[in-house]
Amino acid sequence: MYFTFKVIFLISIIGTGRVGSTIGFLCVSHALDDVLFVNADKEIAIGESLDIASAIPSSSKFSISATDDISQIKDSKIVVIAASVGVYTTDRAEHIDEQVKMIKSIAGDVKKYCPSAIVLVVSNPLDVLTYYFQKQSQFSRFKVIGIASSLDSSRFRYHVSDKLSVPQSSINDAFVLGEHGDSMVPIFSKVTINGDSLLSKISENDVDEITSSVRDYWKALRNHKSRSMFGIAKNVFDVINCIYASQEMTVSAAILLENEYGESDITMGIPVKINNNGVSEIVTIPINEKESELLKISASKIRHQILSVSTE
Ligand code: 2OP
Repeated sequence: MYFTFKVIFLISIIGTGRVGSTIGFLCVSHALDDVLFVNADKEIAIGESLDIASAIPSSSKFSISATDDISQIKDSKIVVIAASVGVYTTDRAEHIDEQVKMIKSIAGDVKKYCPSAIVLVVSNPLDVLTYYFQKQSQFSRFKVIGIASSLDSSRFRYHVSDKLSVPQSSINDAFVLGEHGDSMVPIFSKVTINGDSLLSKISENDVDEITSSVRDYWKALRNHKSRSMFGIAKNVFDVINCIYASQEMTVSAAILLENEYGESDITMGIPVKINNNGVSEIVTIPINEKESELLKISASKIRHQILSVSTE
């Protein structure tokens, strides 16, 4: 008999594969709130939740449960969408049509059962799915946040640290903007190392090398493991933790643009302030001419992907 006492689950995680279950593990082990795993395959959701239930701190008043019934997300404060119809191999947009169909269905359910939720989209292709969730749900754009560019920014910071042999703590304002994909744009011109401009310490060749390493990080990782999990899960957890702690953090995240960075009616990664209500402010950072050109290319790639989705 699998016992679960009924609580109002305030963090619902739809899709409990590696990423969704790791996000759930972090939320439970930090005793943030009650967590609900939602998976079409209930056995998978139950298995992950039973495993993670053993990680509930003795001081926690929260629990974790599992279901295949999406109506159980009712009244959730946060909904994380980490579901996928299948594993992609060469490109995050491989299953774009099926993923968009899935996210539209989920958007209908989230609108029905928890219209006040803050929604964190994690599934790929991230920018396109965040766009279609917002359009289908008509939620405020400040309540629909695509988490991925903060992951790319972590990778950017990691490669700068590695290149210069400096601790990550000495690196500030390492933002990646644009697509969570091959056209993403690390903003070198903003980064400082102990207060000094990064660009004064590296060559153009270094810029190109680091840019390629950040863009291809997920491919390099897949040479050693099937796919990423911990990095993205921690970046999602950091946002959830910020929302619960009523703190404010500035991260790069995907949001529907309304003329920010010169773009409208697309969703892409830009710096935003996040607090307990979702996105509290869109942050405009200065970017140089080259970065601006690359960002336009990235935005047009996302726009093309959005328009390429079959509407049947
Ligand atoms: C990543 O960049 C899979 O989009 C995920 O690792």
